[in-house]
Amino acid sequence: MTDASARISIQNVGKIYGAGRKQVEALKSVDLDIKDNEFVCLVGPSGCGKSTLLRIIADLQRPSSGDVQVVTSAEAVRPSAVVFQDYSIYPWKTVAGNVRFGLLSQGLSKAEIDDRVKLWLDKLRLTAFADHYPSQLSGGMRQRVAIARAMVVESDILLMDEPFAALDAQLRRVLQEELLNLWQDMHRTVLFITHNLDEAILLGDRVAVMSGRPGRIIADYDIPFGRPRQAEIRGSAEFAALEQELWLRLRDEVHVGDETVSQKVVA
Ligand SMILES: Nc1ncnc2c1ncn2[C@@H]1O[C@H](COP(=O)(O)OP(=O)(O)O)[C@@H](O)[C@H]1O
Ligand SMILES: [Mg+2]
Repeated sequence: MTDASARISIQNVGKIYGAGRKQVEALKSVDLDIKDNEFVCLVGPSGCGKSTLLRIIADLQRPSSGDVQVVTSAEAVRPSAVVFQDYSIYPWKTVAGNVRFGLLSQGLSKAEIDDRVKLWLDKLRLTAFADHYPSQLSGGMRQRVAIARAMVVESDILLMDEPFAALDAQLRRVLQEELLNLWQDMHRTVLFITHNLDEAILLGDRVAVMSGRPGRIIADYDIPFGRPRQAEIRGSAEFAALEQELWLRLRDEVHVGDETVSQKVVA
């Protein structure tokens, strides 16, 4: 990971699903730049196109218009790794097997693979569960496996789509704090999607706000808390004020989305 320099440049991206009367415009003129080693959180109402944008950046989908550039260091084997909301791990593989899987196509020696798997199992506190199967784990543990599997690749870019959304509130806080500490120790460019404003402010260097569908970036806040950052900043007046400001910006968009839905139902 030496000399790693990874950035994402999204210019005027649009995405239209389907055709004719069933056509859905998911994204419209999205512009967003994420710099090297920057942690950007993206918030927006449900259905505004956040996952669509992430899949386009991960090259799992094509935009209908516009341009996405993902620039990574020359030695990157895989430019990006993705963590999805729904514990996307293999049920027939053990915890260690799931984590190892991400490394198999990278041409590493068995010793290197073993070392890396051990390191990331340890960092995500999964060592004692290495031989367990996902069905034997709680939701929080399963999502730790998904995160370990993405981290072990040591790609320059990490894309996370509401990775903690399915967890209960307490577990979510634990994993947020773990991610905060993990990320502060490494060089990684991150796009993290959430609809939780508190999570976005805690984790992000920047928080970009998307409009209701068709999604576009309507605000972009620099988060004034430095690094390393402690979870205790949540208790500060500055944090609360920022959360309120973000909510006021987002609230209108959530409302716009509801109106669109109700108009369609009436029509
Ligand atoms: N494969 C698809 N085909 C058709 N419509 C889709 C597809 N994926 C998403 N959509 C629609 O595009 C819009 C944006 O979806 P999505 O990107 O999942 O939003 P978000 O992640 O912000 O909730 C939604 O209206 C959704 O129903
Ligand atoms: Mg989504």
